[in-house]
Amino acid sequence: MNPAGAGGGDARRALVEWVAYLRDIGVRDLSLESKGAPAAPDVATPAVAPPAPAPPGGELFTLGAPGTADAADPLERLREIRDEIGDCKRCKLCDGRTNIVFGVGNPRAKLMFVGEGPGADEDAQGEPFVGRAGKKLNEMIRAIGLEREDVYIANIVKCRPPGNRDPEPDEVATCSPFLFRQIESIGPRVIVALGSPAAKTLLDTKVGITSLRGRFGSFRGIPVMPTYHPAYLLRKYTEENRRAVYEDLKAARARIDEAS
Ligand code: URA
Repeated sequence: MNPAGAGGGDARRALVEWVAYLRDIGVRDLSLESKGAPAAPDVATPAVAPPAPAPPGGELFTLGAPGTADAADPLERLREIRDEIGDCKRCKLCDGRTNIVFGVGNPRAKLMFVGEGPGADEDAQGEPFVGRAGKKLNEMIRAIGLEREDVYIANIVKCRPPGNRDPEPDEVATCSPFLFRQIESIGPRVIVALGSPAAKTLLDTKVGITSLRGRFGSFRGIPVMPTYHPAYLLRKYTEENRRAVYEDLKAARARIDEAS
């Protein structure tokens, strides 16, 4: 029996996972606050308010995008974009898909993650990053003191490329304008581009992720931090790569905090 109740159990589990992740990525000194790293999430008091009543989000996540015309209602704008996509047949990826994977998360998120495209699990469930890479992404998000529900997650293309190949240029050209409109609607303070296709698309470059990662670029004035894709991290699970991703995410979090 858990004396803290279900919420306390969740909180404890979240804390244990967070500490385990920090260890996993090579952080040995857990007295992080004094060194300027993000504090461990206060698991007893969520970093954001519960999502009801709408619009969701707490202090960190409720502000609309500065300068966007209709920042008051990003949820409505996201709904409009989804409606416009409809039962999309604009590119060849529609042939093999089960579900269109639109995006998930807080429509007023200050931090947005962009991956490349749905895999088998995402195609089956209609939600981005729900498979193995998604679990790793959730850990990465927690490592900077946030929860998956605090951020917004989407992909460059919304339908699964066959065999998980990279999206092809015509597919990116057809689908990415919807992502760009999602970004404009949400108005995040920072975008984290996960892997080469996301970084190349958002930063409009041919430079690969190894050279790009760790330094902010810009998408229509929004800072973009390119980092390794969680699936790559799982494949090349070295301390160097894990630490690199953690540093990139910490820099993204710091940029948000600076702007708040
Ligand atoms: N990889 C991605 O890039 N996106 C997903 O949604 C899942 C795996």
